[in-house]
Amino acid sequence: MLFATRTLAAASARAFSTSAAQNAAKVAVLGAAGGIGQPLSLLLKANPAISHLSLYDLFNTPGVAADLSHINTPAKVTGFLPDNEGLKQTLEGAQIVVIPAGVPRKPGMSRDDLFNTNAGIVRDLATACAQYCPKAHVLVIANPVNSTVPIVAEVFKKHNVFDPRRVFGVTTLDVVRASRFVSENQDTNPADTNITVVGGHSGVTIIPLFSQTPGLKLNESDLKALTHRIQYGGDEVVKAKNGGGSATLSMAYAGARFTNSLLDATVNGKKGIIEPTYVKSDVLAKEGVEYFSTKVELGPNGVEKIHGLGELSAHEQALLKEAIPELKKNIQKGYDFAHKTE
Ligand code: NAD
Ligand code: LMR
Repeated sequence: MLFATRTLAAASARAFSTSAAQNAAKVAVLGAAGGIGQPLSLLLKANPAISHLSLYDLFNTPGVAADLSHINTPAKVTGFLPDNEGLKQTLEGAQIVVIPAGVPRKPGMSRDDLFNTNAGIVRDLATACAQYCPKAHVLVIANPVNSTVPIVAEVFKKHNVFDPRRVFGVTTLDVVRASRFVSENQDTNPADTNITVVGGHSGVTIIPLFSQTPGLKLNESDLKALTHRIQYGGDEVVKAKNGGGSATLSMAYAGARFTNSLLDATVNGKKGIIEPTYVKSDVLAKEGVEYFSTKVELGPNGVEKIHGLGELSAHEQALLKEAIPELKKNIQKGYDFAHKTE
């Protein structure tokens, strides 16, 4: 009965359709019924550069799709479940795939504690992407990002479809937080408070580079407090939600910002679009770090140019030194997982 209801609901969700815009992309969201997936899909529905918003989850996507499909923006919205080759239908023709599918933290957990559950989810979804939309840009939100991005890359390599310009770890929330926290501290407008954040997406691997913001002068205690707050901002939300999950709304905002920037570069042909993102990178090749987040210029094929670290203060050099072994461990863990079933 449940199966029949879902099948019917999926079929009716497929029927929802508005006319597709020209020069616009099909964007798939995997994990679309979740805490991030729903508000992220809502924000994406507003972007006219999306012709088709294709939602996938283990439950409730037909309902979410039906709801979003009433919003008077061009994107057609469809919702699929695992039955009836739902994942295949979700992914076929997608130019961008955003992956917030996976379990969130509870108080006391690290992001790495999510690895055992989320690594398999991401591997399986990446396998489907490699099969059904091998040229899509894949935006990984599921934690631990430091490890899940290498998993996606290795799965794509196995299928001979890996293009390092098209696999991204979404670290945008770290710069969104940095901007907000520093603007609170400095009494400035967050819109004009741009803070470079490099590294990875967990604790010590998150490295704010305050010295690169012109005119920003922080005293020693603010420097330490803000660095800690940016590195552990996720914990604040996990603690406040008290077992109810981690950041969803701010993440949806950050995920939409990154997706919209990529759409600007790929669909709207805009130049000079720069976002921080965790990608395969040579910035720390000498140290043996294969994936790293710095500012990245986006272009029609995804990564156009990876910016270097720039000049670092002594404080920032110390943070980088601390981050490197943790990042290497996280990357290796993802790599080993992707290869262990060979
Ligand atoms: P959630 O539990 O609210 O939603 C996750 C959704 O994924 C659920 O609806 C679930 O059904 C779905 N799902 C699970 N397995 C799936 C599969 N195999 N296929 C499709 N869908 C599947 O969790 P959330 O709060 O949305 O967080 C999702 C992930 O995002 C977590 O891993 C979290 O740690 C991570 N996250 C990352 C960042 C970041 O900055 N990159 C920020 C916040 C959260
Ligand atoms: C965040 O930074 O908010 C996310 O990575 C979720 C988490 O577990 O903290």
